[in-house]
Amino acid sequence: MRVAILTGASSGMGFAVARRLAQEGYVLILGSRNPSVAVKQLQDMGAKVVGVAGDLADVTTAEALVREAEQLGRLDALLLNHGGPPVKPLLEITEEEWRRYFDLMVLGPLRLLRLSVPLFRRSGGGRVVAITSFTVKNPHPGIGLSNSLRAALVNALKTAALELGPEGILVNAVAPGYILTERIAEWNRAHAEREGVTPEEIARRTVEGIPLKRYGKPEEVAEVIAFLLSPANGYITGQQLLVDGGLVVAG
Ligand SMILES: NC(=O)c1ccc[n+]([C@@H]2O[C@H](COP(=O)([O-])OP(=O)(O)OC[C@H]3O[C@@H](n4cnc5c(N)ncnc54)[C@H](OP(=O)(O)O)[C@@H]3O)[C@@H](O)[C@H]2O)c1
Repeated sequence: MRVAILTGASSGMGFAVARRLAQEGYVLILGSRNPSVAVKQLQDMGAKVVGVAGDLADVTTAEALVREAEQLGRLDALLLNHGGPPVKPLLEITEEEWRRYFDLMVLGPLRLLRLSVPLFRRSGGGRVVAITSFTVKNPHPGIGLSNSLRAALVNALKTAALELGPEGILVNAVAPGYILTERIAEWNRAHAEREGVTPEEIARRTVEGIPLKRYGKPEEVAEVIAFLLSPANGYITGQQLLVDGGLVVAG
């Protein structure tokens, strides 16, 4: 039996990873604020899955996720994911927002990693992947919270990869480009408002700038993550892998 904890897994890319791991027979511990619909969908597919409702910024959420894995007696894979922060100019971000999103995007994932490590050790190693963004490598205006906090997480995870490598715990990040999920509709609306154009115009310009000339699919990101989370990944750690249709070709 292989056990995975997945956060931010009730929709979008996180859900696509859950579906992919379910196909491989993992037992899933699925976290999000409202996981019940996703849990039911996965159970209907025959997956073994338990839902844990909670905000990743809260200490109790990480504790509850790890408690479920402890009951199963092992942990093999951990996906760190959550929703994106608000789109707004850097200097308009309030101190309260910096603190709130630091708790969600840096402290929340790192706390869950820390609480998971004893169980990884007892399981003989493990695999960790965080979903970040191509904008870590290529910061965009209007998303200062994302640009800054994800960069902090990526360097923290590289440190974890160095420190946990000797114990067979491999830690990586996957940086998606433009992927067709609910988040993209929200992103297009926010950027359309800022630029005074329609969301369709934002989508058209976006696709024009992608070398593969289309949005990515959540399943295409999930395939890469499923590999990095599996024992088939024996020798990749400390990396941030772009899955972006060629958007960021340097750096
Ligand atoms: N889509 C893209 O093109 C793209 C590109 C680059 C980066 N990203 C980033 O990649 C991540 C995933 O994107 P996506 O498009 O798959 O997003 P999505 O469809 O909006 O999914 C976000 C997931 O996170 C959960 N979530 C949101 N806030 C949470 C919180 N505070 N605590 C726990 N869970 C929370 C949501 O479920 P609940 O509502 O039930 O909590 C949902 O399961 C996001 O951080 C996004 O910014 C996306």
